Amino acid sequence: MDRKYVLTALGYGVLGMALGVYMGISQNHAQHVTHAHILLLGMVVSFIYAIIHKLWITDGTTTLSRVQYYCHQVGILVMFIGLFCFYQGLLPGEKIGPVLSLASVVVFAGVVLMKVLFIKSTRKAG
Ligand code: HEM
Ligand code: HEM
Repeated sequence: MDRKYVLTALGYGVLGMALGVYMGISQNHAQHVTHAHILLLGMVVSFIYAIIHKLWITDGTTTLSRVQYYCHQVGILVMFIGLFCFYQGLLPGEKIGPVLSLASVVVFAGVVLMKVLFIKSTRKAG
């Protein structure tokens, strides 16, 4: 699971920085919130999850590990697409708001589940 998370982190690193370069070149910073979250939630938080897996999670193949992984993946992907559409003016706030709220809760569930995984693994080990 650590490798999967590193690949996710680097993938969003490429995407987020490409958006940053585009914003810089075009002098259009409308997508700065999308850019910030792709890099912080997509790259930084995914990388932190990779490190947690590498250092502490004893079994990354459990159902709980997989549910945690997909919570984070699905949540952030929906959030980034939603943010992009909103800041690009493709969808109005009233339409995208509920989708973003749901995605946020799923991403939030991901961090709660990571905490549960961490506690379970370190208790077993310790
Ligand atoms: C190739 C690398 C990058 C480029 C070209 C780039 C470019 C930009 C640009 C043009 C903005 C808009 C600035 C503004 O309107 O105020 C911005 C904002 C931002 N960037 Fe990047 N960025 C890069 C990498 C990163 C990385 C690696 C991170 C974090 C891990 C990051 C985090 C942020 C954040 C948080 C903001 C929003 C700041 C704010 O308005 O509050 N960026 N970036
Ligand atoms: C469920 C997860 C998250 C949600 C729902 C969320 C939501 C938001 C919202 C509503 C804003 C204000 C956007 C605006 O200015 O209109 C914001 C800004 C920001 N958030 Fe998050 N956030 C989340 C996770 C994170 C994480 C994990 C980080 C850092 C590691 C982060 C860093 C930031 C930064 C730096 C800004 C300012 C960005 C800018 O002005 O471009 N967020 N976030």
